[in-house]
Amino acid sequence: MTRAEELENRLRLLVNFGGVVSKETNLTRLLHIIAEQVKTILGCDRGSVFILDRQTNELWSKVALGLQHTEIRVPFGKGIAGHVAATGSILNIKDAYEDNRFNHDIDRLTGYRTRSILAVPLKNVSGHIIGVFEAVNKLNSSFNADDEGILQLIGSLAASAIENAQLYESLSRSQLETIYRLAVTAEYRDQQDTAVHLRHISEYSALIAQGLGLPEREAENLRYASPLHDIGKVGIPDSILLKPGKLTAEEFEEMKKHTIYGAKILSNTESHLLQIACKVAASHHERFDGTGYPARLKGEQIPVYARIVSVADVFDALCAQRVYKPKWDPQKAREYILEESGKAFDPDVTKAFDGIFGEILKLHAIGDGKSTIIPGITKELHRYEI
Ligand code: C2E
Ligand code: SIN
Ligand code: SIN
Ligand code: FE
Repeated sequence: MTRAEELENRLRLLVNFGGVVSKETNLTRLLHIIAEQVKTILGCDRGSVFILDRQTNELWSKVALGLQHTEIRVPFGKGIAGHVAATGSILNIKDAYEDNRFNHDIDRLTGYRTRSILAVPLKNVSGHIIGVFEAVNKLNSSFNADDEGILQLIGSLAASAIENAQLYESLSRSQLETIYRLAVTAEYRDQQDTAVHLRHISEYSALIAQGLGLPEREAENLRYASPLHDIGKVGIPDSILLKPGKLTAEEFEEMKKHTIYGAKILSNTESHLLQIACKVAASHHERFDGTGYPARLKGEQIPVYARIVSVADVFDALCAQRVYKPKWDPQKAREYILEESGKAFDPDVTKAFDGIFGEILKLHAIGDGKSTIIPGITKELHRYEI
């Protein structure tokens, strides 16, 4: 390839890169895509992104150890990456082991042999350093001046995508916290173990959504939106909600309003997540055959999110003890769900439910007696803790 051809080729890759990274809002996936793209565009063996954690003044990065990914942290200022973060200027190093700024920790951990490193600072639009970007081990040579220009260009595209993803995740993280708090408020009155019930609803719903073949993003949305399905119970008086026996017809009419109250509480929101939660709260007691409440919606008129949560909710309600009923054996509850296929429930949803029943059983078993907050949410929070 001539130099002109090579540059043209890189330009094409760069345009593609810009398109790919601007669409990804999940930080972990984004960092992975960036690292892969750098390898292709610069013709090197590894791409690493170090993100600055301003709270601890460390740089963190994900490194691959076999199939596992581990997060490593280095103090600001340490190593090549730290040097670049501290000075804000680019470093092009032919042999890292000849450079006493090089930090050997990562190589020791991974068994990798770093030779050449090209490291550029990642700066956001206001010029603040948010991390460092390294291309490592140029194939057959070391990095040249063209590579420096390209990596800086990639770095500026990457920096804005990373900042977007961080913003998006801190937003959804505070959303998740709010949602969880709301959900607990709604349920703590009538259930002995609210946290377990909410965790079950959350996990079963996400699993069923996956089993139905919904996109991962939708399954995740449902994971966080589903715990709010009964938020409208805050509007139901104790005399009804906590009644130890069977409700009278009149009382049940009052009880049914929890769907409408819930939809009201969650209405008029800008948040996509809460819009889903609103649909679920409104329609989780509709029946597939059109005889449910509150609107007697039928079949596909019922939002798919609600059709999913309906199965998760009834299954978990049956398996749990309530003031008005003892708990059922999970196998009996499963049979009930399958019998109601096409009546109360969407047959596609009950099929997906049955397909993942093994996993549901496992979650059901660990649920009993363990009272933590929703692990899906805890896990996400930990992952986003940067
Ligand atoms: P929940 O206790 O969370 O129950 C959710 C749904 O699970 C129920 O919706 C129902 O579809 C199903 N389910 C729960 N237990 C049983 C059961 O023993 N047999 C059968 N076949 N299905 C069951 P549903 O019926 O629309 O009730 C909505 C909410 O109304 C319930 O939420 C609960 O809070 C309240 N509720 C319903 N019936 C009674 C009752 O007899 N006494 C009291 N105190 N509350 C009731
Ligand atoms: C360093 O920044 O000094 C080392 C980074 C690496 O091993 O990739
Ligand atoms: C549903 O909540 O949609 C079904 C209620 C039932 O089991 O009758
Ligand atoms: Fe409900």
